[in-house]
Amino acid sequence: MSRSRITVVGAGNVGAAAAHLIVSRGLADVVLLDIVQGLAAGKALDIAQARGVYPSASSIIGGTDWNLAADSDIVIITSGLARKPGMSRDDLLMKNTEIVKSVTKQVVRTSPNSIIIVVCNPLDVMTYAAAKVSRFAKNKVIGMAGALDSARFACFIAEALNVDIADIRGVLMGGHGDDMVPLPRFTTVAGIPLTDLIPADKLAAIIDRTRKGGIEIVNLLGSSAYYAPAAGAVKMAEAILTDSKAVMSCCAWCHDEYAIGGAYVGVPVMLGKNGVEKIIELDLNDIEKKELAVSVDHVRKLTAQIDPIL
Ligand code: 2OP
Repeated sequence: MSRSRITVVGAGNVGAAAAHLIVSRGLADVVLLDIVQGLAAGKALDIAQARGVYPSASSIIGGTDWNLAADSDIVIITSGLARKPGMSRDDLLMKNTEIVKSVTKQVVRTSPNSIIIVVCNPLDVMTYAAAKVSRFAKNKVIGMAGALDSARFACFIAEALNVDIADIRGVLMGGHGDDMVPLPRFTTVAGIPLTDLIPADKLAAIIDRTRKGGIEIVNLLGSSAYYAPAAGAVKMAEAILTDSKAVMSCCAWCHDEYAIGGAYVGVPVMLGKNGVEKIIELDLNDIEKKELAVSVDHVRKLTAQIDPIL
């Protein structure tokens, strides 16, 4: 059986962290690409040498040449600008649209049967851009945000309750922005609803911190987060490659689901070898539905700004 191949586009912080995680787990062979001469080749060589320490059977090569990526099973797009203090994800819209457009054209040329995982911001809109430019089936173009945002939600819950983070299933929906919709009614700690375990004021503070989880790190680091975003993308790739049918929140194309009517936005999905194999429809209450509508509306407005140039 031939080994799977994942191309990671962009050898910056997120791309390099994702490549390292894939190789250290032996999940697939990796091609790391970047337009900056030497960057992907150097980081790939460093990671290749780390394989002698773990060890890992995965191979990794890096470079600037898209032909290296031929016939990848999955392409993770991390390239694009990251935000700096004072910026919102939306401020990256125009520059990252151009980058995602040109990267996606290369994905279509070199790996027409791949599944694309988009990681660059503004996430939901960049996922739409990759889907529109690639013309791939919508279930094969997926954005990584829910895996990250629900991990942040879980992290803050674990701290507040002093419980094992592995027992927490954080559920959230909506766009990857300040109006994302954490869903405490569907979030559990060892199967127990979160709402039974935590006072309302503490929960409200956790929800607020989760929504602002990205900017908290930008303000500390001076640049965007990368370990948890990379882990989120690799978790999705693993579910797809192993056809595990894992359920997690991802940015997926929704039409009839939640009566969204056609938008890329975060929803709980089942991932398998065909990408998004199912969208799970939760029975939202009126407040949750309203919050989701606000978030979808935000994504839709941003999408409308770039749609004519795709
Ligand atoms: C974040 O939330 C990178 O958007 C990403 O940290």
